[in-house]
Amino acid sequence: MELVGTRGRFREALAAARGEGARVGLVPTMGSLHAGHLSLVAEAASECDLVAVSIFVNPIQFTSSEDLAGYPHDLEGDLELARAAGAGIVFAPSVAEMYPHGKPETRVEPGPIAQRLEGASRPGHFAGVATVVTKLLSLCGPCQVYFGEKDYQQLVVVRRIVRDLDLGACVVACPTVREADGLAYSSRNRRLGPDDRQAASVLFKALVAGRDSIAAGAVERAEVERTMAALVASEPRAELDYARVVDGLTLEPVVGLAGELRLLIAAQVGPVRLIDNMAVQASRPPGLPMPGPAPAAS
Ligand code: PAJ
Repeated sequence: MELVGTRGRFREALAAARGEGARVGLVPTMGSLHAGHLSLVAEAASECDLVAVSIFVNPIQFTSSEDLAGYPHDLEGDLELARAAGAGIVFAPSVAEMYPHGKPETRVEPGPIAQRLEGASRPGHFAGVATVVTKLLSLCGPCQVYFGEKDYQQLVVVRRIVRDLDLGACVVACPTVREADGLAYSSRNRRLGPDDRQAASVLFKALVAGRDSIAAGAVERAEVERTMAALVASEPRAELDYARVVDGLTLEPVVGLAGELRLLIAAQVGPVRLIDNMAVQASRPPGLPMPGPAPAAS
Protein backbone atom coordinates (compact mmCIF):
# COMPACT_ATOMS: atom_id res chain seq x y z
CA MET A 1 0.00 0.00 0.00
CA GLU A 2 1.29 3.45 -0.92
CA LEU A 3 0.90 6.48 1.33
CA VAL A 4 0.51 9.61 -0.83
CA GLY A 5 0.73 13.16 0.53
CA THR A 6 0.56 15.31 -2.60
CA ARG A 7 -2.22 16.01 -5.09
CA GLY A 8 0.19 15.53 -7.99
CA ARG A 9 1.25 12.04 -6.95
CA PHE A 10 -2.34 11.03 -6.18
CA ARG A 11 -3.52 12.08 -9.65
CA GLU A 12 -0.51 10.41 -11.29
CA ALA A 13 -0.81 7.09 -9.41
CA LEU A 14 -4.50 6.70 -10.24
CA ALA A 15 -4.06 7.72 -13.88
CA ALA A 16 -1.28 5.13 -14.22
CA ALA A 17 -3.47 2.40 -12.68
CA ARG A 18 -6.36 3.28 -15.00
CA GLY A 19 -3.92 3.25 -17.91
CA GLU A 20 -3.24 -0.39 -17.10
CA GLY A 21 -6.95 -1.12 -17.16
CA ALA A 22 -7.59 -0.99 -13.39
CA ARG A 23 -11.05 -0.12 -12.12
CA VAL A 24 -10.51 2.49 -9.39
CA GLY A 25 -12.57 2.79 -6.20
CA LEU A 26 -12.38 5.87 -3.96
CA VAL A 27 -13.42 6.00 -0.28
CA PRO A 28 -13.35 9.58 1.04
CA THR A 29 -12.95 9.79 4.84
CA MET A 30 -11.79 12.10 7.59
CA GLY A 31 -9.83 9.29 9.24
CA SER A 32 -10.01 7.72 12.72
CA LEU A 33 -11.19 4.72 10.79
CA HIS A 34 -13.76 2.41 12.34
CA ALA A 35 -15.90 -0.53 11.25
CA GLY A 36 -18.23 1.76 9.26
CA HIS A 37 -15.39 3.17 7.13
CA LEU A 38 -13.83 -0.26 6.76
CA SER A 39 -17.06 -1.72 5.40
CA LEU A 40 -16.84 0.86 2.59
CA VAL A 41 -13.19 -0.06 1.90
CA ALA A 42 -14.05 -3.78 1.86
CA GLU A 43 -16.99 -3.18 -0.48
CA ALA A 44 -14.75 -1.14 -2.81
CA ALA A 45 -12.07 -3.85 -2.70
CA SER A 46 -14.63 -6.48 -3.70
CA GLU A 47 -15.65 -4.43 -6.77
CA CYS A 48 -12.50 -2.58 -7.87
CA ASP A 49 -8.90 -3.41 -8.79
CA LEU A 50 -7.39 -0.49 -6.87
CA VAL A 51 -8.92 1.14 -3.79
CA ALA A 52 -7.84 4.63 -2.75
CA VAL A 53 -8.81 5.86 0.71
CA SER A 54 -8.53 9.60 1.34
CA ILE A 55 -7.95 10.77 4.90
CA PHE A 56 -8.45 14.50 5.28
CA VAL A 57 -10.13 16.40 8.10
CA ASN A 58 -11.65 19.05 5.88
CA PRO A 59 -11.68 22.35 7.79
CA ILE A 60 -14.14 24.10 5.47
CA GLN A 61 -17.01 21.71 6.32
CA PHE A 62 -16.82 22.35 10.09
CA THR A 63 -19.17 24.96 11.43
CA SER A 64 -17.84 24.80 14.98
CA SER A 65 -14.15 25.44 15.66
CA GLU A 66 -14.48 23.35 18.83
CA ASP A 67 -15.65 20.34 16.83
CA LEU A 68 -12.74 20.79 14.38
CA ALA A 69 -10.17 21.14 17.18
CA GLY A 70 -11.54 18.08 18.99
CA TYR A 71 -11.76 15.91 15.87
CA PRO A 72 -9.69 12.73 16.47
CA HIS A 73 -6.57 11.92 14.38
CA ASP A 74 -4.77 8.57 14.22
CA LEU A 75 -2.86 8.23 10.94
CA GLU A 76 -0.68 5.31 12.07
CA GLY A 77 -3.67 3.26 13.19
CA ASP A 78 -5.63 4.25 10.06
CA LEU A 79 -2.87 3.04 7.72
CA GLU A 80 -2.88 -0.41 9.31
CA LEU A 81 -6.67 -0.68 9.19
CA ALA A 82 -6.92 0.60 5.60
CA ARG A 83 -4.26 -1.85 4.43
CA ALA A 84 -5.97 -4.80 6.15
CA ALA A 85 -9.34 -3.85 4.60
CA GLY A 86 -7.87 -3.84 1.08
CA ALA A 87 -6.72 -0.28 0.31
CA GLY A 88 -3.92 0.09 -2.27
CA ILE A 89 -3.39 3.82 -1.81
CA VAL A 90 -4.00 6.13 1.14
CA PHE A 91 -4.12 9.82 0.20
CA ALA A 92 -3.51 11.87 3.37
CA PRO A 93 -2.73 15.47 2.36
CA SER A 94 -2.07 18.31 4.80
CA VAL A 95 -4.46 21.28 4.85
CA ALA A 96 -1.79 23.39 3.08
CA GLU A 97 -1.46 20.73 0.37
CA MET A 98 -5.20 20.48 -0.18
CA TYR A 99 -5.84 24.25 0.03
CA PRO A 100 -2.50 25.82 -1.00
CA HIS A 101 -4.05 29.25 -1.52
CA GLY A 102 -5.88 29.28 1.83
CA LYS A 103 -9.60 28.62 2.17
CA PRO A 104 -10.92 28.34 -1.38
CA GLU A 105 -13.03 31.26 -2.58
CA THR A 106 -14.76 28.99 -5.07
CA ARG A 107 -17.25 26.68 -3.37
CA VAL A 108 -19.66 24.12 -4.73
CA GLU A 109 -23.15 25.13 -3.54
CA PRO A 110 -25.41 22.09 -3.51
CA GLY A 111 -28.77 23.98 -3.59
CA PRO A 112 -31.97 23.70 -1.53
CA ILE A 113 -31.52 20.02 -0.65
CA ALA A 114 -28.52 21.07 1.45
CA GLN A 115 -30.36 23.86 3.28
CA ARG A 116 -32.66 21.62 5.32
CA LEU A 117 -31.95 19.31 8.30
CA GLU A 118 -28.14 19.16 8.78
CA GLY A 119 -27.81 22.16 6.45
CA ALA A 120 -30.15 24.23 8.65
CA SER A 121 -28.29 23.25 11.83
CA ARG A 122 -24.83 23.65 10.26
CA PRO A 123 -24.99 26.42 7.63
CA GLY A 124 -22.22 26.07 5.04
CA HIS A 125 -21.45 22.46 6.02
CA PHE A 126 -22.59 20.87 2.76
CA ALA A 127 -20.85 23.49 0.61
CA GLY A 128 -17.64 22.45 2.40
CA VAL A 129 -18.38 18.75 1.82
CA ALA A 130 -19.39 19.32 -1.82
CA THR A 131 -16.24 21.37 -2.49
CA VAL A 132 -13.82 18.80 -1.06
CA VAL A 133 -15.63 15.85 -2.70
CA THR A 134 -15.50 17.68 -6.06
CA LYS A 135 -11.76 18.27 -5.58
CA LEU A 136 -11.16 14.63 -4.63
CA LEU A 137 -13.13 13.36 -7.63
CA SER A 138 -11.31 15.77 -9.93
CA LEU A 139 -7.92 14.49 -8.69
CA CYS A 140 -9.05 10.86 -8.73
CA GLY A 141 -10.60 10.78 -12.22
CA PRO A 142 -13.29 8.29 -13.28
CA CYS A 143 -14.03 5.91 -10.40
CA GLN A 144 -16.60 4.27 -8.21
CA VAL A 145 -16.90 6.39 -5.07
CA TYR A 146 -18.23 4.86 -1.86
CA PHE A 147 -20.41 6.66 0.70
CA GLY A 148 -22.19 5.43 3.82
CA GLU A 149 -25.94 5.69 4.37
CA LYS A 150 -25.00 6.72 7.91
CA ASP A 151 -24.71 10.30 6.61
CA TYR A 152 -27.84 10.02 4.52
CA GLN A 153 -28.26 13.68 3.56
CA GLN A 154 -24.58 13.83 2.55
CA LEU A 155 -25.14 10.79 0.30
CA VAL A 156 -28.14 12.45 -1.39
CA VAL A 157 -26.22 15.73 -1.80
CA VAL A 158 -23.18 13.95 -3.29
CA ARG A 159 -25.35 11.98 -5.73
CA ARG A 160 -26.83 15.25 -6.90
CA ILE A 161 -23.54 17.14 -7.38
CA VAL A 162 -22.04 14.17 -9.24
CA ARG A 163 -25.08 14.19 -11.54
CA ASP A 164 -25.37 17.98 -11.92
CA LEU A 165 -21.64 18.57 -12.54
CA ASP A 166 -20.91 15.41 -14.57
CA LEU A 167 -18.14 14.45 -12.17
CA GLY A 168 -17.60 11.09 -13.88
CA ALA A 169 -17.98 8.97 -10.75
CA CYS A 170 -20.45 6.22 -9.96
CA VAL A 171 -21.72 6.72 -6.40
CA VAL A 172 -22.12 3.50 -4.40
CA ALA A 173 -24.17 3.63 -1.15
CA CYS A 174 -23.22 1.26 1.69
CA PRO A 175 -25.42 0.35 4.70
CA THR A 176 -24.85 1.77 8.18
CA VAL A 177 -22.67 -0.37 10.46
CA ARG A 178 -23.77 -0.35 14.11
CA GLU A 179 -22.42 -1.38 17.48
CA ALA A 180 -24.24 -4.09 19.48
CA ASP A 181 -26.66 -1.61 21.11
CA GLY A 182 -27.53 -0.01 17.76
CA LEU A 183 -25.30 3.09 17.98
CA ALA A 184 -23.92 3.80 14.51
CA TYR A 185 -20.12 3.78 14.41
CA SER A 186 -18.76 7.33 14.15
CA SER A 187 -15.32 8.83 14.70
CA ARG A 188 -16.98 11.28 17.09
CA ASN A 189 -18.08 8.40 19.39
CA ARG A 190 -14.49 8.36 20.70
CA ARG A 191 -15.25 11.61 22.49
CA LEU A 192 -18.16 10.14 24.48
CA GLY A 193 -17.47 9.35 28.15
CA PRO A 194 -18.94 6.07 29.50
CA ASP A 195 -22.28 7.59 30.60
CA ASP A 196 -22.73 9.55 27.40
CA ARG A 197 -21.75 6.49 25.37
CA GLN A 198 -24.53 4.52 27.04
CA ALA A 199 -27.00 7.36 26.53
CA ALA A 200 -26.07 7.68 22.83
CA SER A 201 -27.96 4.52 21.86
CA VAL A 202 -31.16 6.53 22.38
CA LEU A 203 -30.90 7.76 18.75
CA PHE A 204 -31.21 4.23 17.42
CA LYS A 205 -33.97 3.43 19.92
CA ALA A 206 -35.90 6.49 18.73
CA LEU A 207 -35.55 5.40 15.08
CA VAL A 208 -36.80 1.91 15.96
CA ALA A 209 -39.75 3.43 17.87
CA GLY A 210 -40.56 5.60 14.83
CA ARG A 211 -40.37 2.63 12.48
CA ASP A 212 -42.55 0.54 14.83
CA SER A 213 -45.17 3.27 15.09
CA ILE A 214 -45.45 3.33 11.27
CA ALA A 215 -45.72 -0.48 11.21
CA ALA A 216 -48.43 -0.25 13.90
CA GLY A 217 -50.52 2.01 11.66
CA ALA A 218 -49.53 5.62 12.41
CA VAL A 219 -51.02 7.77 9.66
CA GLU A 220 -49.44 11.15 10.30
CA ARG A 221 -45.86 12.23 10.00
CA ALA A 222 -46.18 14.44 13.11
CA GLU A 223 -47.26 11.47 15.21
CA VAL A 224 -44.14 9.50 14.27
CA GLU A 225 -41.91 12.54 14.81
CA ARG A 226 -43.45 13.03 18.28
CA THR A 227 -42.79 9.36 19.13
CA MET A 228 -39.12 9.73 18.18
CA ALA A 229 -38.77 13.04 20.05
CA ALA A 230 -40.38 11.60 23.20
CA LEU A 231 -37.85 8.80 23.29
CA VAL A 232 -34.94 11.22 23.08
CA ALA A 233 -36.59 13.41 25.74
CA SER A 234 -36.61 10.38 28.08
CA GLU A 235 -32.80 10.40 28.06
CA PRO A 236 -31.56 13.32 30.20
CA ARG A 237 -28.08 13.30 28.62
CA ALA A 238 -29.48 13.78 25.10
CA GLU A 239 -30.81 17.01 23.62
CA LEU A 240 -32.81 16.64 20.43
CA ASP A 241 -32.03 18.81 17.41
CA TYR A 242 -34.52 17.26 14.98
CA ALA A 243 -36.51 14.05 14.41
CA ARG A 244 -38.11 13.96 10.95
CA VAL A 245 -39.86 11.71 8.51
CA VAL A 246 -38.95 12.59 4.92
CA ASP A 247 -39.20 11.22 1.40
CA GLY A 248 -36.21 8.92 0.92
CA LEU A 249 -35.26 10.39 -2.46
CA THR A 250 -35.98 14.10 -2.15
CA LEU A 251 -35.64 14.58 1.64
CA GLU A 252 -38.87 16.63 1.47
CA PRO A 253 -41.36 16.26 4.35
CA VAL A 254 -44.04 13.75 3.29
CA VAL A 255 -47.82 14.08 3.45
CA GLY A 256 -49.10 10.48 3.77
CA LEU A 257 -46.91 7.85 5.41
CA ALA A 258 -46.35 5.74 2.32
CA GLY A 259 -43.60 4.72 -0.04
CA GLU A 260 -39.87 4.95 0.54
CA LEU A 261 -39.46 6.98 3.73
CA ARG A 262 -36.39 7.98 5.77
CA LEU A 263 -36.44 8.69 9.47
CA LEU A 264 -33.70 11.19 10.29
CA ILE A 265 -32.54 12.18 13.75
CA ALA A 266 -29.90 14.48 15.24
CA ALA A 267 -29.13 15.07 18.91
CA GLN A 268 -26.42 16.42 21.15
CA VAL A 269 -25.12 13.85 23.65
CA GLY A 270 -22.58 15.33 26.05
CA PRO A 271 -19.87 17.02 23.95
CA VAL A 272 -20.86 15.34 20.69
CA ARG A 273 -23.54 15.99 18.08
CA LEU A 274 -24.74 12.68 16.66
CA ILE A 275 -26.87 11.90 13.61
CA ASP A 276 -28.54 8.70 12.47
CA ASN A 277 -31.27 7.55 10.10
CA MET A 278 -33.31 4.55 9.05
CA ALA A 279 -35.15 3.50 5.88
CA VAL A 280 -38.81 2.57 6.21
CA GLN A 281 -40.85 1.14 3.38
CA ALA A 282 -44.44 2.00 4.22
CA SER A 283 -47.48 0.59 2.45
CA ARG A 284 -50.26 3.01 1.58
CA PRO A 285 -53.25 2.71 3.94
CA PRO A 286 -56.55 2.65 2.01
CA GLY A 287 -58.11 6.04 1.34
CA LEU A 288 -54.98 8.10 1.86
CA PRO A 289 -53.61 10.41 -0.84
CA MET A 290 -50.59 9.31 -2.84
CA PRO A 291 -47.34 10.20 -1.10
CA GLY A 292 -45.32 13.17 -2.21
CA PRO A 293 -43.70 16.34 -0.98
CA ALA A 294 -45.79 18.48 1.37
CA PRO A 295 -46.90 21.84 -0.06
CA ALA A 296 -44.16 24.46 0.39
CA ALA A 297 -44.56 26.45 3.61
CA SER A 298 -45.69 30.00 2.85
P1 PAJ B 1 -16.37 10.55 7.64
O1 PAJ B 1 -17.30 11.01 8.70
O2 PAJ B 1 -14.99 10.12 8.02
O3 PAJ B 1 -17.09 9.39 6.86
C1 PAJ B 1 -16.50 8.83 5.71
C2 PAJ B 1 -17.51 7.88 5.07
O4 PAJ B 1 -17.78 6.81 5.97
C3 PAJ B 1 -18.85 8.56 4.75
O5 PAJ B 1 -19.32 8.12 3.50
C4 PAJ B 1 -19.73 8.08 5.89
O6 PAJ B 1 -21.11 8.05 5.58
C5 PAJ B 1 -19.20 6.67 6.09
N1 PAJ B 1 -19.54 6.15 7.42
C6 PAJ B 1 -19.30 6.76 8.61
N2 PAJ B 1 -19.82 6.02 9.63
C7 PAJ B 1 -20.40 4.93 9.05
C8 PAJ B 1 -21.11 3.81 9.57
N3 PAJ B 1 -21.34 3.64 10.86
N4 PAJ B 1 -21.56 2.88 8.68
C9 PAJ B 1 -21.36 3.04 7.34
N5 PAJ B 1 -20.69 4.09 6.80
C10 PAJ B 1 -20.22 5.02 7.64
O7 PAJ B 1 -18.32 11.86 5.79
C11 PAJ B 1 -17.19 12.34 5.87
O8 PAJ B 1 -16.16 11.72 6.55
C12 PAJ B 1 -16.78 13.62 5.17
O9 PAJ B 1 -17.89 14.48 5.12
C13 PAJ B 1 -16.23 13.39 3.74
C14 PAJ B 1 -17.26 12.76 2.82
C15 PAJ B 1 -14.96 12.54 3.80
C16 PAJ B 1 -15.84 14.77 3.12
O10 PAJ B 1 -14.91 15.42 3.90
